[in-house]
Formats: sequence, structure tokens, C-alpha cells
Amino acid sequence: MNFKRHTVTAALPYANGPVHIGHLAGCYLPADIYVRFLRSKGEDVKFICGSDEHGVPITIKAKKEGITPQQVVDKYHKMMGDSFKEFGVSFDIYSRTTSKTHHETASEFFKKLYDKKVFVEEITEQYFDEKANQFLADRYIVGTCPKCANENAYGDQCEKCGSTLNATDLINPKSTLSGEKPVLKKTKNWFLPLDKMQPQIEAYIDSHKEWKSNVFGQCKSWLNAGLQPRAMTRDLDWGVKVPIEGADGKVLYVWFDAPIGYISATKDLTPDWELYWKDKETKLVHFIGKDNIVFHCIIFPAMLMAEGSYILPENVPANEFLNLEGDKISTSRNWAVWLHEYLIEFKDKQDVLRYTLCANAPESKDNDFTWKDFQAKNNNELVAILGNFINRTLVLTHKYYEGKVPVALEYTKSDLLLLEEITKFPAKIAASIEQYRFREALGELMNLARLGNKYLADNEPWILIKTDEKRVQTIMNLSLQISANLAVLMEPFLPFTAKKLSNMLNLNSGLKWNDATRTDLLLAGHQINTAALLFDKVEDETIIAQVQKLADSKKMNEESNASEIEASKAETSFDDFSKMDIRIGTIIEAERVPKTDKLLKLLIDTGIDKRTVVSGIAGSYKVEEIIGQQVCILVNLAPRKIKGIESQGMILMAENTKGELSFVAPTNDNMNNGGAVK
Ligand code: 2FM
Ligand code: ZN
Repeated sequence: MNFKRHTVTAALPYANGPVHIGHLAGCYLPADIYVRFLRSKGEDVKFICGSDEHGVPITIKAKKEGITPQQVVDKYHKMMGDSFKEFGVSFDIYSRTTSKTHHETASEFFKKLYDKKVFVEEITEQYFDEKANQFLADRYIVGTCPKCANENAYGDQCEKCGSTLNATDLINPKSTLSGEKPVLKKTKNWFLPLDKMQPQIEAYIDSHKEWKSNVFGQCKSWLNAGLQPRAMTRDLDWGVKVPIEGADGKVLYVWFDAPIGYISATKDLTPDWELYWKDKETKLVHFIGKDNIVFHCIIFPAMLMAEGSYILPENVPANEFLNLEGDKISTSRNWAVWLHEYLIEFKDKQDVLRYTLCANAPESKDNDFTWKDFQAKNNNELVAILGNFINRTLVLTHKYYEGKVPVALEYTKSDLLLLEEITKFPAKIAASIEQYRFREALGELMNLARLGNKYLADNEPWILIKTDEKRVQTIMNLSLQISANLAVLMEPFLPFTAKKLSNMLNLNSGLKWNDATRTDLLLAGHQINTAALLFDKVEDETIIAQVQKLADSKKMNEESNASEIEASKAETSFDDFSKMDIRIGTIIEAERVPKTDKLLKLLIDTGIDKRTVVSGIAGSYKVEEIIGQQVCILVNLAPRKIKGIESQGMILMAENTKGELSFVAPTNDNMNNGGAVK
């Protein structure tokens, strides 16, 4: 189907931190390339984004910093908006979900579903922190993931295995507010009956087999597991108030209000907003990261279906994740390249980052950003291929023709083949962009620059100028035409460079994508402007400094972890210490204590005797790996019974901040059993 207009959204980022390269690569850069391409094609498009200012991560951040949630979002909304602008992400509007329009729009949407009796009202038991006297949002509960045993899974999601969870699924749940075990308490909430809507949703997903396989696959696995009703309200005080009676102290679930943020932002952008949301001839596309798939492909479409007057997303091209130097990007560990810092350190090099992130985009699998690769992409591709071609063309034009485009006199056979080749690029690049294959599209753009470089290298106008001046005119004319076409076609990917190149070529600013199918954008006699380098080399020192910066941040992080180390105990006397008789011993037998998780029954040769000790180390060591292990053992501790076994001493263990245990043992081989620890 041909569409009359496009609504393109990029996930509303939580306003609880600055923007990093993972954000850009995952969603904002591909969305921006797509939109810039559509605009260049002359399409009617609205590019929508804004800050997601509700949700628990924001309240957590506020608590941590001792400020209000509003202060948190004010700070980051501005910072994120600035970063996007500085990197050329060309939203038509960058709105926010604390806006009046948004609160009204989200409330009305909820009210409409409520009046249509879409929701199922249910009293459920939710976790409540008795010490903090409040219900706990999913993100305030951590525990062990029932699927992969990750001990730090959240109440809504395990970030290790990616499973979506309910807080009550967690094993050993703990409140992050007080550290206490939460209790279950009754509360009323409003549920979207996704279970009843499954057939409709399934039909919708099945009608989109063209979606990226990672997206379609994730949807199918949700559907195969069977959709469950999902609460659209929460017992919290930060968010859009639930607009019905008897809902005091409750707000809309952040994943109910956030996607409505796309609609309210469009309302703030244009009085014609309904055309962009309700007209069947509008193509709605959501750019997101993979952790948002279910919300955009199942829950939001279900909300739109239930409301009844909206179009549904036509595509949801989600990217996978970008890692940094082999490790997961993490805000809390400061393992990231922040856009606002990059801009200070790499002034005017926004396009280099755009290029690297697009060339390496995590389109079908997680990918890695490394500074070495950034340097290679800049030096070997942008400088050596694209920059080099443009520079040679422009410098020679100035040198031979005082910057005036020469006439193409007579084309050779190979010129004619080249001309034909050039005209195919707009369609080739477009086909890749239309299928959301931005890496491939960028590769094609670079192939055009490669073609230009090869043409100059094969024809050597700098040598020919001495013998065949006429031929050089044609060569330079053709090279200039390629440069002009490159300026048009690179715009979605490298908007800053496109502008610079267009200025240098003194190109008509109104050129559109399809103009690049022509090979006469620069007429003979047209005066071009002074040439300047489009890119310059990134030196080794610069890269070493960035790698060092990351290493420093890792070190700082480790040091701050060290601050979690227990405070020292009260002072003791030497006499008291010397009462303890600690000896070197060797474990000669070990077995699990039945019906316990952690206990091992050990037989220790203390040099004095052989004695039994019960030790809680089974979580850290297997029986078979500790036979023969030398240990330090407190031998004059009064015996005590543990699980019915008399334990005659205690083994000394070291524990790190993660709770992992290690034997405290001599490092020399020549320490005999019975040797005293002093
Ligand atoms: O993952 C996130 O950062 C969410 N704030 C994305 C929301 S997208 C949309 F629904 F608004
Ligand atoms: Zn898990």
C-alpha cells in the first residue's frame, strides 16, 4: 500500500540520565536517517519524540540524589534534548510527558477505555514495604530470576536473560527501599485483558511477517506463551493520576502513559494531529530498542485497538543492543560514551560518530563499539575514501579551472558505463533504507565514493593535464557530478558533512533525493566555493586517551564498590586476640550436609589431631575441589552442634562485596599442618 503521510516515533527516553552512544545507535540515529530520507523524497512526515518523565527509575534517581522527581526530569529533559539537537537528530517536536497536554491526553484515553468497560477491575495482592509504608513498584523489588537464577532481577524484568516477570515470580524478593522482605497486601487495580484480546493481537502480528525477525520472533514467543491481563494502574504518587473515582494514590502505569506521549506530542506539534494518528493512509513506524518490543508490538497496539479510532503501527524496527569495548553499556557503572562529553572532546565531529554507529549498528545482533574501530572508520573510510575523493576533485577544479565547473566534452565508453552506474544509487540506497537496513544503505553510499575514487585513480587527470587537457575537462566534470550526488545522498546519514559539501559546491539547497538520479546537477561554468577538508585523521593519542578514560571510570567504580565494605568492628586488645589459637590445617575429607544448601562437613588435619568442622561454604566450593586444600582453622573455639553434627572449630574465610567466599590460606607450600597463625 502506498501511504500519503508518515508518523515516525523514536522511543521516549527516561529523563533520568544523559544520552549515550547506545541510545543513539539503538533508536535515534536509524530513526533520524529514515526521516531525513523521507523528507528528501518529498514525503509528508512528522518525527515525534520527547522525554518519558514518569516511571519508577525517575523516583529512584530522585531519592538517590535527595531531590524531587520534577527536578530530576527538568534537568535531564533539557540535557537530552540538547544532545539530540547537537547530533542532528531532527525531531519535529521533542516533548515531555509531564506536559499539560500529555496528562490530559493520557487521562482521556484511560477514561475512554474505562467507559467502554475495557478494563477488568481486580483486587490483587501486591508487595508492600512495611518499613517504608508504601506499595512497591516492580523496580523497587529485586530477587532471584526464576528462569536464569540471576540474583539481581527486577520485579518486572530480568536484565540478564531478558525475561519479563511479575514481582511475585521472584525468588527471595527484597525491597530496595528498606532491604526488607516485602509482604503481600490487597489493592485494587485496572487490568487490560490481553488474554481476551489475544486473537485480535495475534491476527495483527501475523499480518506483519515482514517485520524484522528479532521483532516478529519476540512477539510470537509472547503469544505462544499466552498473553496475561496486565495492570494499567499502579499504587504510586508520581505519574498521571488515575482519572476515576476510588483511585486515590494511584497513577497510570508508565507503559500505559508513555506511548500515548507520542500522540500528545503530535497534538502539541500540529492541529492536524488526527491525520497523523487516525487516517488509514498514514504509515506509523516506531523506532525502539529491543527491550521495548512487547510494549510497542503488543500492549500499545492492544490499547489502540481497544480505543478504536487509531491506526496501528505498520512497523516496529527494533535494534539490538550496542556494547562498549566488549562490556554492556551501563549508566550506573559509568561505562558509556556520553554524547555531551563526546561533543567537548570531538568538536564538530558529530558525523564521525553517526557514521561509526550506523556502520556498526546492532541491527540484527548485539554489536560492539570500540575506540580502535572508531579511529579505523574515520581514518580508513571517511578520510581515505569519501574525504579524499571530494578533496581531490575540488582542489583540482580550483587548480585547473579557477573553481568553475568545466564542460564535459566527450564521454568515453567507460564514462558512459559510469554515468549509468551513478544513476542507480538513489534507488539502491532507498531500497535498503525502506527495509530499515541502514548499514547496508551506508555501505552503498560509500560505494559511490569508492567509484569516484577509482575513476580518478584510473584516469589520473593530474598526469593527463600535461597531454590531453580536453579529456581532463570531462573527467573533472564527471567527478564534480558524483560529488554533487554524494552531497544529496549522504544527507540522511551525515547531515553536517552534507551541508559543508553543498556549501563548497555552491549547490542549490532545494535538491531532493531523486535529483541524484541525474548527472548534471552542476552546470558548466558554475562557480564552486573554496575547498576545505571534510574529515581529518584521528590520531593514536586521542584514542589512547579515550580508552584510558574508560579504564579510569572502571577503576573509580571498583573503588566506590569498595565503599560498600563493612565498617570495622570495635577495638579489641592484643590479649583478647592472642587467646585465639589459629593453626594451619588441611582438608582431608568433605561431604555435603544433607538437606542444607550451604553446609559442608569437613575432616581437617590440624597437625594436633583430625577433627570435624561444619562450614557454610557449599555455595562457593564443590566437595571434590577442596580435598587437600590448606586452610586456617580456629582450633580453640568451643564445640557446637550444627544440624546435629558437632563442629570442632572454625575455618577462616574471606568474603568479597558480592558475597563470594575464599579460603584464607598460606601462600607458601612449606607450611606444615599445626603451624600457628600469628
Ligand atoms: O525504555 C525506555 O527508555 C522507555 N522510556 C521508552 C518508552 S517508549 C514509549 F512508549 F514512550
Ligand atoms: Zn533471568
